[in-house]
Amino acid sequence: MRIYNYEILNEIQKRWSPRAFSEESVSNEDLEAIMEAARYAPSCFNEQPWLYLVADDEPSLNVMRELLMEKNWLWAKKAPVLIMVLCKNKFEHNDKDNAYCSFDTGTSWGYLSLEATKRGYQTHAMAGFRKKTAREVLNIPEVYTPLAMIALGRPGLIEDLPEAFREKESPNTRKPLNEVMVKIDYFGGLNEEN
Ligand SMILES: Cc1cc2nc3c(=O)[nH]c(=O)nc-3n(C[C@H](O)[C@H](O)[C@H](O)COP(=O)(O)O)c2cc1C
Repeated sequence: MRIYNYEILNEIQKRWSPRAFSEESVSNEDLEAIMEAARYAPSCFNEQPWLYLVADDEPSLNVMRELLMEKNWLWAKKAPVLIMVLCKNKFEHNDKDNAYCSFDTGTSWGYLSLEATKRGYQTHAMAGFRKKTAREVLNIPEVYTPLAMIALGRPGLIEDLPEAFREKESPNTRKPLNEVMVKIDYFGGLNEEN
């Protein structure tokens, strides 16, 4: 049960990561709009280091499904869209390492998931996939780091999930606000000299 202390964005309240997906396809318009939201995330030097490899037809979905770890494959194989999220680990403007590429790409996928929620879809990010194999199979150059895969689609039926997943199929909770938001005087950042 989620308790919101404040009236935050509806999509943030509604978003969670279910495993029951319907096989109903995602329209191209919705898919592009969802990616458009990802495109408008802020990033260090506006480098937009994210890259989304999208599979929404059977041949490409089959390639992506093969990359999933068994525990994710069991439910994510039904999702009509599987996306691999990469980030470019070098800055384009000076070819130096971009230490912020995952930070920025995390923001971008967050936007993606909120737009998907707004449009009645659900998303579920997964770190559990074979990254080395993904590099080989999808020809991913070194300059891109595979970060996660995302299942995207309409909600499905809990009864269709493998039994082990059914009882987990509800939104989880969060740490209390005072554990994640700490004023610096409590944290020790302020001392006599400040
Ligand atoms: C980077 C990342 C990797 C994740 N990897 C997996 C995964 O491999 N398998 C899985 O079932 N869920 C995975 N999750 C989902 C998280 O467990 C989930 O987001 C978290 O428990 C919070 O729940 P909520 O998204 O429903 O709010 C991942 C989420 C993120 C952001």
